Order: sequence, then structure tokens, then C-alpha cells
Amino acid sequence: MAKVEVNNVDKFYANGFHAVKKVNFIAEDKEFVILVGPSGCGKTTTLRMIAGLEEISEGTISIGEKVVNNVLPKDRDIAMVFQNYALYPHMSVYENMAFALKLRKYKKEDIDRIVKESAELLEIENLLDRKPKQLSGGQRQRVALGRAIVRQPKVFLFDEPLSNLDAKLRVQMRAEIIKLHKKLNTTIIYVTHDQVEAMTMADKMVVMKDGVIHQIDSPLEIYNNPVNLFVAGFIGSPAINKIEGKIIKKGKKFYFKENDIELEIALAKNLAEHENEEVVMGIRPEDIYDSKYDQMAEFPQKLTAICEVVEPMGNEFIVFLQIEEITFTARLDPKRYPQIDEKIELSFDMKKAHFFSKENEERIILE
Ligand SMILES: Nc1ncnc2c1ncn2[C@@H]1O[C@H](COP(=O)(O)OP(=O)(O)O)[C@@H](O)[C@H]1O
Ligand SMILES: [Mg+2]
Repeated sequence: MAKVEVNNVDKFYANGFHAVKKVNFIAEDKEFVILVGPSGCGKTTTLRMIAGLEEISEGTISIGEKVVNNVLPKDRDIAMVFQNYALYPHMSVYENMAFALKLRKYKKEDIDRIVKESAELLEIENLLDRKPKQLSGGQRQRVALGRAIVRQPKVFLFDEPLSNLDAKLRVQMRAEIIKLHKKLNTTIIYVTHDQVEAMTMADKMVVMKDGVIHQIDSPLEIYNNPVNLFVAGFIGSPAINKIEGKIIKKGKKFYFKENDIELEIALAKNLAEHENEEVVMGIRPEDIYDSKYDQMAEFPQKLTAICEVVEPMGNEFIVFLQIEEITFTARLDPKRYPQIDEKIELSFDMKKAHFFSKENEERIILE
């Protein structure tokens, strides 16, 4: 059991590239932490520094209160699961799982017991005699997990372990890894570029871009209160709508305005400071309703839009709409099939709208 602390860590590669910039985060003991961000943002580099596979240029990393900057990977009491499984092709599943224990000179009976217990946990007892090439992708992934589990490490590190699986299996394995975390009761640091994976699995999410951490919080807190435009756009599918405009005041009320679009903004403490500011409004597709059929908005503001494309999903419609030159997406209830070119009166739930500075992209209006 261990807490992992990443403290002001920088990584400069040999060619001078600054891949990780002053990164700070803590994975508490037994916490499931997910580093998420677009490809190339420094996730793998960060994980490899925790594992000891990559040198730390600046800062410190500690595992269980002990600084490990100069501790060899094998002495860090961690196990890492990679995207490409890295199984030994000539060994059986049993031998693959037993390998690390043999190296550590465990007794034969202990190895046997631990491998069998771990295989049972992962429901692969019946595969122990097979070679990796006789396994499906999902089964190989389980064996890779098994190899990590037998070591009974203090911390598990996962680098995009599900990205080679097909969509259906990925969803299934997500649930299995959540269950596994509960059973093992250890700290997990998991890296993915897939925001859905991060949202559904993490206790704590660390959102990165270009080597920098932008936000750390629970998935729902990040979803509901993104600190800047990047986080707002990266988390959520379909993506949040971004509409550029200006905050204006008329009488006592404030509005978001862009040409003929005018939407009243729910009162907020610091709204007055932003009068006449150029902003980007962010509103999620589920916070826009068909006003004829749904009354869910807390603070409804109505606009008429033209329906351009409809994607029927069964339980909802993803509808691409246009108002003047502005296009945006809404998730509408499937009570009724919107027709192409139809005019739809929409309610924007302005209590759920976010406003970001056009200049620095930070969120500006706070409740
Ligand atoms: N050995 C290396 N030398 C120089 N640059 C590297 C090296 N390894 C990775 N990078 C660069 O560092 C950045 C972060 O890489 P990585 O941590 O693998 O990103 P991620 O896992 O988030 O996709 C990328 O721009 C990548 O090209
Ligand atoms: Mg990576």
C-alpha cells in the first residue's frame, strides 16, 4: 500500500525537448488516478519516470513517503502493464505469470499458489497451458494484468492497457479493471488518451496537455467545472459547443451576444467585471433542449435553429444545428425525429453555460 507523490517534475529528453513541465500530483494510497490528455502530452513519459524507466530531469517522485529518484525500477515495488502486453511468446500463460516470481527466487509451491490465485481472480484458470498466440486480445490483456498482479506490488502503473482491444471488449474490460481495483485495494496510476475511459474509471483525473497539468479533480467536478477551454473541450462527447461572442448589459440584465443571438446569463457574483468582454461561451449538448417537448432547463433561454444533420442513437438524437453562421450540437430526447431543414425552437439552459476569456481561454464567470 502506498501513496505516490510527483513533485515539480520536469523531463528534458536528450535532444533538449521539454516533454513534462513542473508536474505536481498525488495518488493517495489505494486511489485510482488517471492521467488523461491528447497523444504526445507527456503521459507515458510521466509514468515511465514513476516506474524508473526514464530519468527525472528536475523534481522528485516518492512512493510511500520515500523519494525514489535514485532507486532502480526493480526496487520500486511497482508493476507496469503496457499497451502491447509484452508477453513472452514462447512461454505458456502459467510461465508468463510465474516468470517474475522465479527471478525473485520464490519457492515453487508459493509460485504455484500465487499464479493460481491470480488466475482465478482474472478468470483465466483454464488458459494457463496456452501460449500467447492461442489467446484472443482480451485474454492476452488479462494475462498481462496477471503478470502484474502476481508481484503483489504497492502500486500498479497502466499505460493505455485497453487501446488495442475492440470497442465492446474495451467497455467490458473497463468494468473489470474497476472491480479488480476494489479487490486488490492498491494504488493505481493509469494513463489514457480516452476521456471516456478516464471519466468512467478514475477516482481522480489529471488532465494534461503539452507537458502541463491543466486540472486535477474528480471526473464529475472536472466535467461540470472545467477551468479552461481546453479542458472543457477535451472532456465530454459529443464535445461542448464553443460559441464566440460578447457579454453585454441591458438594463439590469447581462446577455451573451453574437449578431442576432442574445441569451440572458444567469446572475453570478463577478458578472459585472466582464461587461463588454469578448468571450467564448461553452454549453454542453445535453444542456440544450427542444423547447416544445422538454422543460428540463433550469434557466431556459430560447432560440430558433435549423436542423442540419440528425444522428439517431436509439436512446437520443445527436442533432447538428445552425443559427446564422454558428453550428452546434444538441442531444435531444428521441420523443420525435427532427427533420433536416426543420426549424426547431431550442431552450438553452444558461445556468449550465460556461464563459471563458477569449484572450487567455480561462474560465471567467464563477457562481
Ligand atoms: N526519447 C525521446 N526523445 C525526445 N522526445 C521524446 C522521446 N520520447 C518521447 N518524446 C516526446 O515527448 C512528448 C511526450 O511523449 P509521451 O510521453 O510518449 O506522450 P503521450 O504518452 O502523452 O502520448 C512527445 O512529443 C514525444 O514525441
Ligand atoms: Mg503514451
